[in-house]
Amino acid sequence: MGFLSDRLARVKPSPTIAMTTRAGDLRASGRDIIGLSAGEPDFDTPEHIRQAAKNAIDAGHTRYTAVDGTLSLKQAICGKFARENGLDYAPSQITVGTGGKQILFNALLATLNPGDEVIIPAPYWVSYPDMVLLAGGTPVVVPCGIDDGFRLTPQALEAAITPRTKWLILNSPSNPSGAGYGRDHMQALTDLLLRHPDIWVLSDDIYEHLIFDDFRFTTPAQVEPRLKDRVLTMNGVSKAYAMTGWRIGYGAGPEPLIKAMAKLQSQSTSNPCSISQYAAEAALNGPQDYIASSRKAFQRRRDLVVAGLNACPGIDCPTPQGAFYVYPSIRDLLGKTSPAGASIDSDEDFCTALLEETGVAVVFGAAFGLSPHFRISYATSDDQLKDAMNRIRGFCEACS
Ligand SMILES: Cc1ncc(COP(=O)(O)O)c(C=O)c1O
Repeated sequence: MGFLSDRLARVKPSPTIAMTTRAGDLRASGRDIIGLSAGEPDFDTPEHIRQAAKNAIDAGHTRYTAVDGTLSLKQAICGKFARENGLDYAPSQITVGTGGKQILFNALLATLNPGDEVIIPAPYWVSYPDMVLLAGGTPVVVPCGIDDGFRLTPQALEAAITPRTKWLILNSPSNPSGAGYGRDHMQALTDLLLRHPDIWVLSDDIYEHLIFDDFRFTTPAQVEPRLKDRVLTMNGVSKAYAMTGWRIGYGAGPEPLIKAMAKLQSQSTSNPCSISQYAAEAALNGPQDYIASSRKAFQRRRDLVVAGLNACPGIDCPTPQGAFYVYPSIRDLLGKTSPAGASIDSDEDFCTALLEETGVAVVFGAAFGLSPHFRISYATSDDQLKDAMNRIRGFCEACS
């Protein structure tokens, strides 16, 4: 009998971590490495939020709180949903966890039985399929290619639905593609879902505020109020307020689901960090100008990166609507040889050669379920991005 569980064996080691580790090893050996693989804003948490956390410590808010969040934070979250999304929730329909990640995990663990299927459009955030597997469910991955703007079409959704489908996971704007579902795209999906009353929707809205040009964010419960009692809307403060390390995420949905998720949390982590909860409350209730300034910076960087990549022979980079990622295709480089003589037969080959030969660390598309692509996170300085674009162009020009 092995010591480690069968459940763990179903989970793949993270390819993102493998690339980051290799980049770290090269940096430690003295190489000049530009890391474009991390999924977090490079800005500091705004001052008033940091101050609220210091005040919380001094006021003695250092003890256990209610398992899935303080009432005042839940009220702030209700205020956010009403103000920004036109969604009316009561505090009893809100749950707060240690990052959006715990919210997703709780929801899946609380609802999936063996054989239950979860539809996941690809490219997807790396954690979705593994979370489904850990919870005992079956991920059903639906490829959403570059020609569809990396968005799930109603036809592809319909074809993936079976009597075992329990959840559809939607993520707009998306990690890794940056693709967003405008109202029309979203409504085409919600119209279809109205005809499938047993399917629930898990809407991962973590990049809600990182949107560009004239893209308008929408979320399924807002687009189709008749779906609201089978939607879990997940969001958090990590990306919107540069608070990745504080670990606060939240979900809004029907009370029985929220209660089930709190029950799980009560027997695992209990409450998310009390100090972080006070910080998150200040983020949601306080001035919102950080959001506009970060959006401006990210849009400038997106434009720099999209233009830089499209100047590289063999790379085709669509312009994303949001988040801080691009997901270019390298189809035209397949079958070629890198400047140092490595064969490029897959996106993993491309990313490995790029890292070894130019010092630019990116993540290969197979990790996100859609090849041949790679993901760049442009949450880093303009100077680093310009340097990286020059290195990638030099690499592509020398491929033969
Ligand atoms: C698509 C997506 N969802 C959820 C998360 C989780 O964020 P957190 O747990 O920091 O709230 C991330 C983080 O990278 C993400 O990219």
